[in-house]
Amino acid sequence: MDKMKRESLGDAQYYLNRLNTIRDVPTMPEVLLRLNRMFQDEDVSIEKIGHLIETDQAISSKILMLVNSAFFGFRSRVSSISHALMILGFNTVRNAAISVSLVDALRIRQSRGFDVTEFWRHSIAVAVAAKYLARQIRLSDPDNAFAAGLLHDVGKLVMLQFLPELFDRAWDSVRRENLSFYEAECSCLPVDHAAIGAHLARGWHFPPLLIEAIAHHHKPPELVEDVELLVAVHLADLAANHFHFGALLQTDMAGKLPGQAMFVREQIAGASQWFRELEDEIESASGFFLEGRQP
Ligand SMILES: [Fe+2]
Ligand SMILES: [Fe+2]
Repeated sequence: MDKMKRESLGDAQYYLNRLNTIRDVPTMPEVLLRLNRMFQDEDVSIEKIGHLIETDQAISSKILMLVNSAFFGFRSRVSSISHALMILGFNTVRNAAISVSLVDALRIRQSRGFDVTEFWRHSIAVAVAAKYLARQIRLSDPDNAFAAGLLHDVGKLVMLQFLPELFDRAWDSVRRENLSFYEAECSCLPVDHAAIGAHLARGWHFPPLLIEAIAHHHKPPELVEDVELLVAVHLADLAANHFHFGALLQTDMAGKLPGQAMFVREQIAGASQWFRELEDEIESASGFFLEGRQP
């Protein structure tokens, strides 16, 4: 029956194409799109990038607040965008820009019985936990994990707003059959929020490793470019779902990615300790992203 249900809805490509044609699908602020394109150009100068970001006052002041906060883990005071670029590098500044712009662009209110504030709280918890795990796994840029964690479920919000017939079908089976959202999508939709999120992130010219982490956060493939980043986001998501919603804290990842098996087992075993220790940081990150409070 599920297969028939899925087929009656059309195929994945149909919905991805539809997103391409809906005019109101959240557009990234112009400055971020230009920034993402600029970052692809190897000869671009710090002055040019700094100048571009500073044309958007709102974004640049939030970027400065974020890079000066504990979330990105730099204790020295950064006073300007060009200073940030010099001491933190392009990648960190871009991650900060992506994070603040996307949360702003998608701050919708409660809709169709789905609590959007709760959604963002979950994403922020995953961001903080993914960054913690990235440090444990010695990822060179832990702020990649913060940005990937913040954005991993973004396809869910876009589905809610722009493909409501899919969202309603999945949400209905979440409630009726007591499934997780992802399980419901797998059982009755032709496309899931991970594929939708990755599709959008591609359109926004996000860096490939962020796109990959969004695309595979529920089901890590055997071959992936940045396996540590994916492990960090996947485990962070499991832990956040476990401690906030009581979901099972288990994964088949250790079997799929044997190189990561030990790390995965250790982090799952110690999750109740490390996740609890992150609670203040999660609270403070929520205050920053959801209420504009100084971190
Ligand atoms: Fe998800
Ligand atoms: Fe999630």
